[in-house]
Order: sequence, then structure tokens, then C-alpha cells
Amino acid sequence: MNTGSLLAADLVIAVLAAAGWLGGGAASVARRRPLALGLAPFALLATVARAITITALARAGWWFAAEKALIAAPLSLAAVVVAGPRLLRTPRDIRSVAVPLLFAGYAGSGALLVTVLHGYPASAGTGLLAVAGVLAATAVSWRVLGRRPSRTVSRAALAVAVAALVTGTGLAATPDAAPAVPHDHEYRNARTVGEPTRRFTLTAGTATVSVSGRDVAAWAFNGQVPGPELTATVGDVLEVTLRNRDIARGVTLHWHGYDVPNSQDGVPGVTQAAVLPGQEFVYRFRADQVGTYWYHTHAVSDVGVRRGLYGVLVVRPAPVTGVDVTVPVHTLEGLPLPAPKTEPVEAGVPVRLRLINTDSTTHRYALAGTPFRVAAIDGSDLQGPTSLVDTAVLVPAGGRYDLVLTAPATPVALFVDGRAVYLTGPVSATTDAWPVLDPLTYGSASPVPWSRFDKEFTLVLDRGLDLHGLLPRYAHTVNGAADPDIPPQVVRLGDVVKFTIVNRSQFVHPWHLHGHHVLVLSRNGKPATGSPLWLDSFDVRPGDVWEVAFRADNPGTWANHCHNLAHADAGMTLHLMYS
Ligand code: C2O
Ligand code: CU
Repeated sequence: MNTGSLLAADLVIAVLAAAGWLGGGAASVARRRPLALGLAPFALLATVARAITITALARAGWWFAAEKALIAAPLSLAAVVVAGPRLLRTPRDIRSVAVPLLFAGYAGSGALLVTVLHGYPASAGTGLLAVAGVLAATAVSWRVLGRRPSRTVSRAALAVAVAALVTGTGLAATPDAAPAVPHDHEYRNARTVGEPTRRFTLTAGTATVSVSGRDVAAWAFNGQVPGPELTATVGDVLEVTLRNRDIARGVTLHWHGYDVPNSQDGVPGVTQAAVLPGQEFVYRFRADQVGTYWYHTHAVSDVGVRRGLYGVLVVRPAPVTGVDVTVPVHTLEGLPLPAPKTEPVEAGVPVRLRLINTDSTTHRYALAGTPFRVAAIDGSDLQGPTSLVDTAVLVPAGGRYDLVLTAPATPVALFVDGRAVYLTGPVSATTDAWPVLDPLTYGSASPVPWSRFDKEFTLVLDRGLDLHGLLPRYAHTVNGAADPDIPPQVVRLGDVVKFTIVNRSQFVHPWHLHGHHVLVLSRNGKPATGSPLWLDSFDVRPGDVWEVAFRADNPGTWANHCHNLAHADAGMTLHLMYS
């Protein structure tokens, strides 16, 4: 069982245990003896079973188990000690075990709430708060059931509650809250990069676009979704004028995966102010990286990108030879883009398919009818890519894969999640059962260029209650905090930086650092053995631990966030800063 399933299993068992205890308690209050005597042993069993799941999680990494080992385990133990012996004595009056069973139920629920509402990191405050809650609920039940809670229980509840308040509840206090970003600093002006050789104008506005015969209300660049494809040859100087016609919440342009100077990165509130209706902003940068990229608005990015403010950016080494097509996949109002396109290709012609995932969740691509190679991922060429056949690739949100092939005499077809999007002729194939390529073992290796790291950071991804804003929210968190309260990671120019990214949530988090490409070192303790992988977007699945590294060579303040943009908006955004 992998760590992700283990996390899910542990959660399910914890819910069953708590529900079993509470149900048993309620049944005994109602004098439903058989029900109570059925539920309670079941709960006991589930509680004991957690010893196994918690131990296994601790072995997978302390991040996964901390609060379970430190808070849930002692509470579960107390539940077993208090309720277990009383059950074994099979009471004549079933009501006499009601309070012990309810206590066990509160203990289980309290521990569960700690995991669900706070998670990582475990703190004394949260632990004490949980204990205080359990004791208080037990005391109240005791009273309601017509007996007086013992002095000891009442006093203990009071003492623990006070201690919890003094320690800080842990829910309200972040580990070391720090202001994330100087939100009102003066944005630096575009660096001089020479005379533009390619000029574009993108005007953002509301528009009605037609998708598979249906009219859809969208937000579009130049009235189209995706926006115009921006192409350049390496060495070009791009000048892109962004205008906002009527997007009230503002727009910007972020060059996803393109490591531009910080002032051109297009993050509102960090590198520039959002461009409001009637305003414009001119971006200028040198196209010195070849490859497949994309651009999108970074103002209210979840809504903005979903509604259509995105497009493709391709920088080619030289004029195109053969067939070179981009396949940006997107879901607009539930309708899949692009529409299927058929174009016959003569046998022997080289074909490059640039797959781009502009959605917030992973897409599965499958190329049928031909062997192919994965030439590049996230704009960086792979080393020694071998020929693949009947193999699918998973492209994370924001990610790009370039597939290359030599057109065979027979038709080929590219499927996205089973839907054909690009064909050179009629092909019918079922690709669902194909194995999926693991890029960490694909291609030929090179040694990691660094043997030591100047800075190391760990990001633990989770969910938790965020009480810092005007309204409480169930945020997506990093190290127990949500944007804007996540302390930034501070590096110096030239530092070699290592990130360990741990996902203890039930969601896939496509990680995306601006301004840098990271080299994948390992995933779940296994070193990457394939071609060096320089990524800007990678799926950190539930239970995953990724180690990645990069050289801090692009000064500025950079967003570092989950590219499931709804998660990013719900707290999962922090910043990398240069000191
Ligand atoms: Cu494509 Cu900050 O994002
Ligand atoms: Cu996410």
C-alpha cells in the first residue's frame, strides 16, 4: 500500500472508530443493549487497528504521522483503557457503560478533528485543546445522564482548557507568522533587453466564444480562447503589450515556465499591479530558452485562467521543419478544448506534438498508431529519450510534454483522457489500459551537479482551518499556514537550494515555482534514475515526498504555489525571496 492509500485508510478507520464509540454510547443511553454491544467491540477493534496504520505512516515520514502519534494515539489509548475493561465485564445495566463509551467517542472525534482541521505540524496547543474538548464533553454528558461528574474530571477539564489557552490554541497561531511579501513595494521597471524583434498586443476582455457549436461566455485575449499563439525564435526580443478592455478584477500576463526577469513575471501584488480596465502594461524579455510554454493571467488566476485568459508561447531553435503542432488542453465551462483536428501527414515527415495542460488537474495523453519519444518536458530537452509505444503520459496542471515521431504510412491519433484531439487519419484505439510513463526513470542519467545545499526547505502540504482572515476558511495549507501567512523562503543569489515537498492531504498538488526550473532528485525516497528532469510543474500526489533542487540565479520575489489554481487561491501560495 502506498502512503497515499495509507493516509486515506487511516482516516477511514479513524472515522469508523469514532462513529462506533459514539454510536455505542448513544445505544447504551437508549438501552439498546445488542446494538451497544455490537458497536463498541467494533470501535475497539478499529481503534487498535490504528496502531498499525499510524506506525506505517510514521515509517513513511514523520510529517504524515506527527499529530496522530502525539495526539491521536494517546487519546485512543485513553479510550481503550477507559471503555475496554468496562465492556469486558458485560454490564448488567447497559447504561452504566454509556459515559465510558461516549468518552471514547469524544476522544476519537477530538483526535480526528485535530487531523482534519489542523494536521501538520502537531503543536502542544492543539493537543491540549483536543483534550480539553474531550473532557468537557464527557463532563457534560455525565451531567445530562443524571449523574455528577467526578471532581477530578471537572478539575482536569478546567486545567487543560486553561493550559490550551495559555499555550495558544494552535489553531489560531501559525508556527512563526511572518509577512509574506512586501505588497506595496515599488515594482522594478522592465530591464533593458534591447530592441524588440517580435511585437504582440493582447487585449483582455469578456467575449462569447463558440466551443463545439455552443456559445460560451468567456474571458478572452483578442476575443479568442485560447489567446493568440505567441511564437518566437531563440534570441528574439519579445514585446507584449497587455491591454484590459473590461475585466473588472484586473489582468496580468505570467509566462508560465519562462524564467523571465522578476519585473516581467506578471504576479499582481508581487511584481506589478494588476492591469485594470482601460490600462495597459508592456512586457519585454529576451527569448533565450527554447521550448513549449504558455502564458496566463495571474490576477484572480483561478477564475481568470478557467474562463479563458491563457495562450501558448513557443520558442523554436530555428525555422520549423516538418510538422510542429501545439495541443493546449483546457476545459471551458465543462467543454473540452481543443476541438479534434485531422491533418494528413506524409510518411517520413518529422512531427512534434507540444502537449500543454492549462487546466487545474492532470490530463492523460495517449498517442496511438506510432512509436514516439518524449523529447522535452516543461521546455527542457530530455537526455537519451528512448522509443515508446502504447504508453500514456500524465501531464500535470501547467505542465508540457513534447512528443516527437516520424510519421508512419498509417494514421496516428493523439487522445486526451480517451478523446481524440489530433489525428492524421481515422484511428480507433482503446488507450485506457496503457501503462503510464514515469519520467523519473526515462532517458539516460547524468550526475547531479551539486553535492551540498546552501539552503534546505520542507513544504508540508495539507488542509486546515484558517482563522486569520475576515471569515474562517478551510484552507489548503503549507506547513500549517495559508497565504498570506506562510513565511517566505529566503535565499541568497548563488545558493543551491533544496526543497522537500510532502503531500499529506487527499489532493494532488501540481507544484509550480516561478522564475526557476528545479532538478528532480528523488520521489518517495527513490532517486531519479532517468534523464535529468528540469521541471516547473510536477504532481505531488497524496503521500508523495519529492526532493528537488535548483540554483538561485534569478533575483526577485517569486510566487511558489500549487497550480491547481483553486488551491492556490485557497491558501496554497507562498514566495521565494532573495535577501
Ligand atoms: Cu502558471 Cu503562478 O502560475
Ligand atoms: Cu493543490
